[in-house]
Parts: sequence; C-alpha cells; structure tokens
Amino acid sequence: MSKKRVTSGMRPTGSMHLGNLLGALDNWVRLQDEYECFFFIVDWHALTTPGGGDAVGYENLGDLRNRVREIAIDWVSAGLDPDKCSIFIQSHVPEVAELHLLFSMITPLGWLERNPAYKDMVQSYKIESPSYGLLGYPTLQAADILIYKGDFVPVGKDQVAHVNMTRDLGQRFNSLYGKKVFPITEALLTEVPRVPGLDGIENKMSKSSGNYIALSDSAEDTTKKIRTMFTDPVKIRKDDPGHPDGCVVYAFHDIYNVGELETIRKECESGARGCVSCKMELAEKMNNKLEPVRARREELVANPGMISEILRAGAVKAEGIARETLKEVREVMNLPARESLDV
Ligand code: TRP
Repeated sequence: MSKKRVTSGMRPTGSMHLGNLLGALDNWVRLQDEYECFFFIVDWHALTTPGGGDAVGYENLGDLRNRVREIAIDWVSAGLDPDKCSIFIQSHVPEVAELHLLFSMITPLGWLERNPAYKDMVQSYKIESPSYGLLGYPTLQAADILIYKGDFVPVGKDQVAHVNMTRDLGQRFNSLYGKKVFPITEALLTEVPRVPGLDGIENKMSKSSGNYIALSDSAEDTTKKIRTMFTDPVKIRKDDPGHPDGCVVYAFHDIYNVGELETIRKECESGARGCVSCKMELAEKMNNKLEPVRARREELVANPGMISEILRAGAVKAEGIARETLKEVREVMNLPARESLDV
C-alpha cells in the first residue's frame, strides 16, 4: 500500500525560532520517515493581509522573496530532508490557484464568514477593509492540502478549524460530483512542549514579541540571550533559595536538560545553585543540541545554489501530482481537458 500523505505549510512571517522548531519542525522531521510529505511556504497566504511595519503583506511586500528563502534554509537546517519530503514554495505550483478558483465556486459564504481565524486576523491586524482574498484564506488552504490529496495535516490547535473546513470542502466536492476525488483530511495534533518567551514563562516565544532565539542565531548570540533572561526576582544573592516553577531558565532546562531537572530543582530551592551558572549550563546544553542545525545552516548559506535546487526539485515533484489531481477535477466537473486543448 502506498504511504499516506502529509501536507503542511507556513506563512513566511520571518526566520524560524525555537518555538517553531520544537512546536512544528521537529515533528515534521519525524513524519518524513513515515509518510509521503509535502511542506510548502505559503507566499500567497502572506498576501491576504495588508502588512506593515515588520509584517509583509499586499501593501508591504518588503523582502518577501528573501524571507521565503530564509524559511526554506531554516527548514532544511532543522532536518527536513529533500530526499525524503518535498519542500517548495506555494506559488511555484500555479495549479493550486486553479483549484482554489474552482473551490471558491462551491464554498458556502457562511463557512468563511463564521471562520474564527478570519475574525481574529481582522481584529489583531486591525484591518479596516478586509479583502476578498482574506475571507477566502481557508479555501486557498484547502486547495493547498487537497491538490496533493493530503490525508493528514500537522498543525497547531489554532489551525484545526481550517483543516476541518478543508475536509468538509473535500467531502462537498466528492458528493456534488459523485466521485471520491479527495480523501477525508484530518488534522494531526501532536503533543509538543510549550516554548516560553525569553522574557517570562507566561509569554509564548514569538517573532513579534522579540523574545526568541532564532535558528540563525550563533552559539554566542544564544549564550548572550540566555544570560539576559529574567530569573526569580526574589533570588537576589547566589545562595538565596529560588523558585524554579516561575523561572524561564528552569522551563528551558525542562526542554534541553531533562536528565538534570531534579538536581537543578533541589539545588535552586536550597540556595546551592546560582542563576549565572544555571544559565551557563543551559546555554551549553542548548548549543550542543543546536549544533547540527547550525552546521547544516552554514553549509546552505555558503552554497546558495543548494536551497534553490531543493525548492526547484520540490516544486517539480509537487506540480506533477497537482496536475494529476486537476485533471481528475476537470473531468468530474465536466470541463474540457487542458492537456489536449480539446473541447
Ligand atoms: N494557515 C496556516 C498557518 O497560518 C498556513 C497554511 C497555509 C497551511 N496553507 C496550509 C497549513 C496548508 C497547513 C496546510 O499556520
């Protein structure tokens, strides 16, 4: 039996950080061994919002192309292997746009208007006049997934509504045209560690808050950032007893130094452990873990042709499959075949 397919995408919002690595990429890297995987950078989706400031969008194209490349470099550095999965740019497969158009005909407007992510985006980006493209965001996402007949979509909780709509749209298509063209797509929700921001455990690591360690940060940058992390405010002297549960350094030990966790807690609570050495120990563990990621990154940055070639090969493979799906779609929708230009 052929492998089930996994598809997922990310918007080119900026370079990847530890939150993206632990929350998504590590999981993708595991999935590539078991499934036929398609991972794409959704540059069209980046154009659904106006952008502004550091955010790219249709009014603020900025360095969109460069960001897309940087993300691809981060993905491969993180361990996505172009021999095992297809890595490509959404807009390199224009068949997705054609499927999006056909899907737009059968997407009930109510589904889009009720989409919670739509309301969130309009509010959080303070969009005064949301575009047609933004409302249609989930329809484009459905085309992204279904053109490759994606069985599973590894995403965070915030994307479940979009994946459910993808499944509903696929089923609606199948029932309207009387053929099971599309699979029953499901979200793959995996337990991932919660990655706090460097500024406190109650915050999430995010690009926009600036509280992150990027995959492109050097070992020295990383150590510097760890050195400036906030620790327990009532632990002033080295031998004051500390409170690991509120401490972001401890939260990172819980990710990168699990074996020592109990010792660290005891030493911190009893006043035997100072924050500076605790941070240096974390920096060493984290840097060790990130070493292979950085080595791959250096190689990719030194050889710019490599990432272009990976993206090209990914797009060729993806487009081959996209064409087959569209051929089937055109057939069941009674549209003339594109290949022969025959009416
Ligand atoms: N909406 C997704 C996000 O913001 C990005 C995305 C676009 C996507 N197309 C996709 C995710 C297809 C999974 C599958 O994270």
